[in-house]
Amino acid sequence: MKYGYFDNENREYVITRPDVPAPWTNYLGTEKFCTVISHNAGGYSFYNSPEYNRVTKFRPNATFDRPGHYVYLRDDETGDYWSISWQPVAKSLEEASYEVRHGLSYSKFKCEYNGITASKTLFVPKGEDAQVWDVKIKNDGDKPRTISAFSFVEFSFSHIQSDNQNHQMSLYSAGTSYKNGVIEYDLYYNTNDYEGFYYLASSFDPDSYDGQRDSFLGLYRDEANPIAVEKGRCSNHVQTCYNHCGSLHKQFVIQPGEEVRCVFVLGMGKGEGERLREKYQDFANVDAAFAGIREHWDSRCAKFSVKSPNEGLDTMINAWTLYQAETCVVWSRFASFIEVGGRTGLGYRDTAQDAISVPHSNPEMTRKRLVDLLRGQVKAGYGLHLFDPDWFDPEKADVEPSKSPTVVPTPSDEDKIHGIEDTCSDDHLWLIPTICKYVTETGEEGFFDEVIPYADGGDATVYEHMKAALDFSAEYVGQTGICKGLRADWNDCLNLGGGESSMVSFLHFWALQEFISLAKHRGKTDDVEKYTIMAANVREACEAHLWDGEGEWYIRGLTKNGDKIGTAQQTEGRIHLESNTLAVLSGLASQERGEKAMDAVDENLFSEFGLHLNAPSFATPNDDIGFVTRVYQGVKENGAIFSHPNPWAWVAEAKLGRGDRAMKFYDALNPYNQNDMIDTRIAEPYSYVQFIMGRDHENHGRANHPWLTGTSGWAYFAVTNFILGVQTGFDGLTVDPCIPTDWPGFEVNREWRGATYQIKVENPDGVSKGVKSLLLNGEAIEGAIPAQAEGTVNQVTVVLG
Ligand code: IFM
Repeated sequence: MKYGYFDNENREYVITRPDVPAPWTNYLGTEKFCTVISHNAGGYSFYNSPEYNRVTKFRPNATFDRPGHYVYLRDDETGDYWSISWQPVAKSLEEASYEVRHGLSYSKFKCEYNGITASKTLFVPKGEDAQVWDVKIKNDGDKPRTISAFSFVEFSFSHIQSDNQNHQMSLYSAGTSYKNGVIEYDLYYNTNDYEGFYYLASSFDPDSYDGQRDSFLGLYRDEANPIAVEKGRCSNHVQTCYNHCGSLHKQFVIQPGEEVRCVFVLGMGKGEGERLREKYQDFANVDAAFAGIREHWDSRCAKFSVKSPNEGLDTMINAWTLYQAETCVVWSRFASFIEVGGRTGLGYRDTAQDAISVPHSNPEMTRKRLVDLLRGQVKAGYGLHLFDPDWFDPEKADVEPSKSPTVVPTPSDEDKIHGIEDTCSDDHLWLIPTICKYVTETGEEGFFDEVIPYADGGDATVYEHMKAALDFSAEYVGQTGICKGLRADWNDCLNLGGGESSMVSFLHFWALQEFISLAKHRGKTDDVEKYTIMAANVREACEAHLWDGEGEWYIRGLTKNGDKIGTAQQTEGRIHLESNTLAVLSGLASQERGEKAMDAVDENLFSEFGLHLNAPSFATPNDDIGFVTRVYQGVKENGAIFSHPNPWAWVAEAKLGRGDRAMKFYDALNPYNQNDMIDTRIAEPYSYVQFIMGRDHENHGRANHPWLTGTSGWAYFAVTNFILGVQTGFDGLTVDPCIPTDWPGFEVNREWRGATYQIKVENPDGVSKGVKSLLLNGEAIEGAIPAQAEGTVNQVTVVLG
């Protein structure tokens, strides 16, 4: 079953049937103000942090995606009313038609009902901490119509998300007031005039208004049948205490063929409502603000675009995968319809991985995230698994939290730095490839010399921070020389403690390769020598202890008792995705072992929805292996199709030169290819999800947790850098693709350090890999393309063979 289609020209996903089996969401906002919104206009807004600065409420885990940011329309002659989004009023789909366009940082809702076409476009203008609702109502009939429009949002009790549930005082500590078309909401105990105020404003002079939720909805009613809309008038009720809302009402008389337009603005800051009301009363400013959002994404998407024979790949890479990756980098992992902001911060490994995908489109944010992570690293070299960057931000550290709710309380040192017991064995290692990518993208070599404090005191250059990370992993090894598993490795549920993790040793090897290239580039011969020896030791230990001769694949690790995890002898957790893919991705495995390992992955882990994380799933609890053995079979880390490491397999196959296999794996996971299987998939087809139920679960194929997953960053990085093969390096830009043999070629447009590279790859011999010739502006060159002058447009022709 299909519920919509991709409109590639506009970079939109168009939902044509609103009765989608789950709310399909979008993220509005590119700076500090964010709204997570569903195709029903359900959702919530926050400023900076969904935990510490909630603007509107949301009720998670309910059968409805409510409340939301709604506009109701009422025919004042008949009393009939509806909402521009299908929910909450939910007119019958026989009588009304709805369309939703989720675009990059905006969502457009359209409804045709009873001779009226109405639309509502929600977006957050750049430079403003506010959300604009651009509403248009057109009379399609031949008689004048009298139509009332009502806005509705439910304000958050408190700026702190958990207070919405836990704190009775929050019922009595905020109040609304009304003046000149603006409902202001004052969080009484919050003395900050900016962050302690929210508002809803309208471009018109309202006929009536409500600041009290229960006056608007009425007792024993809900958002589907508000009393104010039923009556055709709000109660003009504002006051302190209880539950608050923003409803502004206006009656329009609309002539046949006429369209009226009005604007609502939801935002924060005392006095801001009046300022933005005035600004957006001029609709030209609304159009300009919307154009600003389009330009924002036009310029980001233009940094890398592809035209290939695979339409699904083009659609995702040219818009949706980059957009999802940026969403994770900018908003981190705690704002969705599942994670609603109860705890926030940066996951160390998540952030370090997400950031590798966007240095070309968002170098400022990549840099910021790297600095955040380096400040969250301790002298011993490991990272704090979950931390708030504000704890270490010198500009925020001295600010009294009550003066600024966006400054989170800083915990004591013991609460921040728990020590080795709480350390994850992989976190710090992801930093190294990401830092190298940031510098090769931007050319900011000085970054390596920047001095950044450690979380537990002292400081060092970025280059020294990188060495500390590598040295930590060299030190914390078990009996066989393989890295210890500690609290967990990438797999949160594999809790090996003093047992050993193959994936971490493979990751260590990858990080070492990246660092050795850097040390060579900087002429640090001592470091080249030291870390080359370290890498050789890692390789030796891995090849000696991790190859399972019977299965012909790499095992997943060893328990603290020395029992192997993931061998052909086992009946549960026999083969794992992370170890085999990273063995190849890291460059550690030989071609022969690499091919065998990845053949085993294909044979044992492949499904039409992507690659399983392990198989068969664990059925017997074993605390030496970890919590994974207690998770339901086929779910999450226990035998689901866990999306995040799937791109590691695409990279592994690309490194082995097997483009057909890389594309087979890519296509299986690509949500675009599941657009007509929504009754199985359930989740939105424009977003990767955290996991898809595996074959050991009755809902095999059901996709869970959209948006906030490292899959997007990895998918983008894997396709652009390894399948299409356009990579930045210390020597320049390389083009070394690995594509399916039936691709005649493809084109990439790449902007790098101010110059444009129009790359045309031809594949006359139907191969997957191997560059026969490379011409830069008609001249043959060997190896990497040196950075060309800013502003130049360069032709690059690559022939494979
Ligand atoms: O790697 C983790 C990630 O940090 C959080 N979500 C689950 C992944 C796998 O356990």
